[in-house]
Amino acid sequence: MSPKGAVQELAPAKINLTLHVTGQRPDGYHLLDSLVVFADFGDLLTIAPAEAPSLTLTGPLSAGLPTDDSNLVRKAMAFAGWTGAVTLEKRLPAAAGIGGGSSDAAATLRGLARLLDAPLPAGTEALGADVPVCLAARAARMQGVGEVVTPLPALHPLHAVLVNPGIDIPTPLIFRALSSKTNPPMPVDLPDWPDAAALIDWLYGMRNDLEPPALSQAPEVGAVLDRLRQDKACLLARMSGSGATCFALTDTRHAAEAMADRLSDTGWWVQPVTLA
Ligand code: C5P
Repeated sequence: MSPKGAVQELAPAKINLTLHVTGQRPDGYHLLDSLVVFADFGDLLTIAPAEAPSLTLTGPLSAGLPTDDSNLVRKAMAFAGWTGAVTLEKRLPAAAGIGGGSSDAAATLRGLARLLDAPLPAGTEALGADVPVCLAARAARMQGVGEVVTPLPALHPLHAVLVNPGIDIPTPLIFRALSSKTNPPMPVDLPDWPDAAALIDWLYGMRNDLEPPALSQAPEVGAVLDRLRQDKACLLARMSGSGATCFALTDTRHAAEAMADRLSDTGWWVQPVTLA
C-alpha cells in the first residue's frame, strides 16, 4: 500500500525512433535531431511528502544501483530544491539507451510538482540531455543537445519488443567513436503520417547515427539486431539512444508478445511494449 498522501508516477522507457547527430558544440556536446516516443512500461515511483529527501530501490533490476547523491532521483530533488520520500521500483535496465535514469529524474519532478502544487522547473537539461524530453513523456522531436523539445500531435501507436543484451554501454564512449559528427538532420517539417505503416516506411529513410559506433564497440548489439531482423514479425529493428537496447517494431501488440516469447531462450532482457 502507498504511504498516506503519496503519489505514483510511471517513468516510461524512452525510445529514439531516430537519432541524427548533426553537429558538435565547442564544449563537446553533440547536436541531435531525434524522434522520441515513450512506452507503456517503465520504472514505477511512489513519492510521499517528507522533510528530508530519501530514496529506496526495489524491483528486479535495482541490484547494484546507487541510492546516494549520484542517483538521478536525488539529483532531481536537489536541482528543484524539493524533498520527498521516493520508492523506485526499477523495471528498466540502467545505462541502456532507453532513458532509465533520465525518466526517473523526470518522474520525480512530475510527482513532486503534483504533491507541492508547484510548476515544473526549467533548465532540466543540466540533469542530463534526455531529462527535458522525459519530463514531457510524450511523442516529441528533440533537438539542440536535448533541451529543445517540440511535442508532436499524438502518433499512431506502434507495437514493439525492447531487447537488451545485458551490457552497459557508456554514452561518452559511443559519441567519441562516431566517425562523422555532422550528419543530415531529419526534414525540417515532419510528415503527417496517415497510419502506423506510413510512419514505419518513413523511419526506414531515417537513422540512429550512434548505431554504427555502438556496433563497433559492442558486438552484442549486432547480435541482437541480427536476431530481431530474422524474426518473421519484425518490421524494422534499430538501436535506441546510445544502446545497448534495441527495438523491433511489429504490426500488433499480439505479434510483439509472440515475438517476445520466441526470444525467451536468449537470456536477454525482453519486453513487449506499445509506443506513443
Ligand atoms: O547528458 P547526459 O549525462 O545524458 O550525457 C552523457 C554523456 O553523453 C555526456 O557526458 C556526453 O559525453 C555525451 N552527450 C553528448 N551530446 C549530447 C548528449 C550526451 O555528447 N547531446
